[in-house]
Formats: sequence, structure tokens, C-alpha cells
Amino acid sequence: GEASKPIAPKNRAAALEALRAEIGDCTRCTLAAGRHNLVFGDGDPTARLMFVGEGPGADEDAQGLPFVGRAGQLLNNMINAMGLRRDQVYIANIVKCRPPQNRVPAPDEANTCAPFLFRQIDVIRPEVIVALGSTAATYMLGAKSLLSALRGRIHQARGAKLIVTYHPAYLLRDPRQKKEAWADLQIAMAELGLKAPTK
Ligand code: URA
Repeated sequence: GEASKPIAPKNRAAALEALRAEIGDCTRCTLAAGRHNLVFGDGDPTARLMFVGEGPGADEDAQGLPFVGRAGQLLNNMINAMGLRRDQVYIANIVKCRPPQNRVPAPDEANTCAPFLFRQIDVIRPEVIVALGSTAATYMLGAKSLLSALRGRIHQARGAKLIVTYHPAYLLRDPRQKKEAWADLQIAMAELGLKAPTK
């Protein structure tokens, strides 16, 4: 869409609140029927780094916050390994309501909801966005590719540098891929001028 005027950092929290109010008690897609809580997003409205996941799971639906379940615990560990606290980044998803049985959001659901994510990004203006998994990568890039073809390099999306890596839920199932995910996060860290803390 159209490039929007930058919002001053001090006004970004209010701009996000206005967007949340605009979304309201959303019924724009059929995911509304099954949700307990809409999961708007969480974190610093002036974050330099943003993470985008797929959609809320059961824990997120129950709490109204993104990445608060088991995958969220691993995401927190990933953020901490980068030398950051969770409250210094911003976290959101392609869809804001839980898909039934945690299925992948259907294209009409993702295409209905993602414009609100894009507007959050336009408010926050992160320098780097990390897309977690294939669904996030697909809708951030506007095209479907294999994750393996997207990892390990820098893409552009919505005025930010976009890094694609594995979804933490996938890393819980196959921890051998954590090394690869860490390599991706190091690309993001280099772009942000961050050094990993020494343990
Ligand atoms: N998985 C996601 O993609 N997003 C969440 O918020 C939680 C789990």
C-alpha cells in the first residue's frame, strides 16, 4: 500500500491504541466465531525489532497476548539470547484470532487481517522484522516460497529489513534446527548493531 507519514515515537503508543479501537470487536472473517480474545500485538511501540508469527494458539487466545505458550517461552529465550528483553521488541501475528485446531490461516483470513498488521508496522517502523515460519514469510513477502529458499538472507518488507527463520513451534519439534535459527537471528543482530551477551 501507500507509504504513510512517519509517526513521532512519542505518538506511536496512541496510534496503536487507535488502530486497536478501529479493529474493535472484529467480525471481518470467520475466525471471530471461535475466539475468546483477539490478539492485537504486544511490546514496545518504538521497537527497532519486530517478530511476526502466524496466529494465536490456545494460550494466546485465552490471554489475549501473542507468544505466551510453549513456543512463546522459546521465543523469549531467543530474544534474550540476542541481548534483548521481550519488552524491548514488538510481537504480532499474521492473524489476530485463533484458527480452529491451530490450522494454518486460510488465505482469505490472512488477507483480511494482515492489513492491520501492516498498519502496526507502519506505526512502529521497525528497522528489522523477523518472520517466524512459512505463513509469516508468505504474507510479509506477498508470495509463497519454501522457507529454505528464504532463510539466511535479507529481504525487504514494508520499509524494514525482513529476516525469515523457523517458527519456534517447529524448533520445539526439531531442536536440531536451532543452530540455523540462531544464524538467522545473528543476521538480524548485525543489522541492528547488537552483540550477543557473553554468558
Ligand atoms: N504461534 C504463533 O504463530 N503465534 C503466537 O502468538 C503463538 C504461537
